[in-house]
Amino acid sequence: MRILLTLALCITLSSTFAQKFEGLAQKPPMGWNSWNKFECKINESIIREVADAMASNGMKAAGYEYVVVDDCWQIGRDSLGNIMADTERFPSGMKSLVDYVHSKGLKFGIYSDAGTATCQGRPGSRGYEFQDARIYASWGVDYLKYDWCNHGKQNAEASYTTMRDALYKAGRPIVFSICEWGTNKPWEWGKTVGHLWRTTEDIINCFDCKNNWGGLGVLQIIDLHTEIGDYSGPGYWNDPDMLEIGNGVLTQPEERLHMSMWAMFSAPLIAGNDIRNMSAETLKTLTNKEVLDIDQDKLGISATRWMKYGDLEVWFKPLSDGNYAFCFINRSNQPISINQDLKTTIKKMKVDDSYTVRDLWKHKDIGTTKDNIVGTIPGHDVLMLKLTKKLPL
Ligand code: GLA
Repeated sequence: MRILLTLALCITLSSTFAQKFEGLAQKPPMGWNSWNKFECKINESIIREVADAMASNGMKAAGYEYVVVDDCWQIGRDSLGNIMADTERFPSGMKSLVDYVHSKGLKFGIYSDAGTATCQGRPGSRGYEFQDARIYASWGVDYLKYDWCNHGKQNAEASYTTMRDALYKAGRPIVFSICEWGTNKPWEWGKTVGHLWRTTEDIINCFDCKNNWGGLGVLQIIDLHTEIGDYSGPGYWNDPDMLEIGNGVLTQPEERLHMSMWAMFSAPLIAGNDIRNMSAETLKTLTNKEVLDIDQDKLGISATRWMKYGDLEVWFKPLSDGNYAFCFINRSNQPISINQDLKTTIKKMKVDDSYTVRDLWKHKDIGTTKDNIVGTIPGHDVLMLKLTKKLPL
């Protein structure tokens, strides 16, 4: 009887104390992931070179820190069930790759799946959660993206909670990225389970389109964020998927719009291009400090769509210290003229010229809220503004 009671107590205690690691992603995580550009064609040289690039090209200085290896690094399990890396592609092994990324002052992310196999048919973690988590911890992994393919009849919340508990038990603080595509509304249960959750199906390299297998363009993803912003905040983020900036299809204005809106959503910013070899313009878009500051604002509020006039939308986001970001997006490929009074929007404003208005892509103050914002937004382009309270003289 006493043994049974002790056992019951132990089970209760261990489930009571299992939790996610708190304090790990107080700001939206920033980094790079191999999938959008390389899909399965990855190897350790690419990952090392990406870490080298991130550390030296200004991305690390701008705040990018996670280097995440997506699907296809794993090949099987050994006779004890330990997950094995593909030794042809990763001959030095994962531990040495993690050490290398750490040596650059960056963090390492890995990928697995809550089902029996990953989306590319590699071993999933179903039934091996605690063993996999122990191995990741022993390698020094800092971030786990956990996918949802081949889950059969599994319950999403329960499956992700099992991996959360496994990570916690393994003892190494690991950011837990829920990649369940929004199917089971992870924003409703993800806050205590993970640090970020995918809100949609996969992004595709396209501004305005939809694939019949479920891929979504930039605009289609934005449209899914009109109602769920309130679920996101410091430590638990909506994740509208990785960036397609620098992947050769989006135009510069479209890339600016993509970057701006992810920042407005306080979204994780995970570059998905070949950062070893990108244009100066792409690098500039990815590292625009004024835009990154909007993303990383410590309040962590996700923007609200305040107005929609046909193809023109205006989104706004309250920032810490009483400032605001506004983002005008032109969904059409034709220019749209604007003549917008912002001061009536900001209810708290006492004096009508109390905010300076700055264009975050032109890096220029363009006036104050005393005057209307007047101008033209070219097709598929964006006007991203920051309103900063003027200090009293
Ligand atoms: C799913 C995910 C993608 C990527 C692939 C890898 O589609 O949503 O982000 O990880 O699997 O197979």
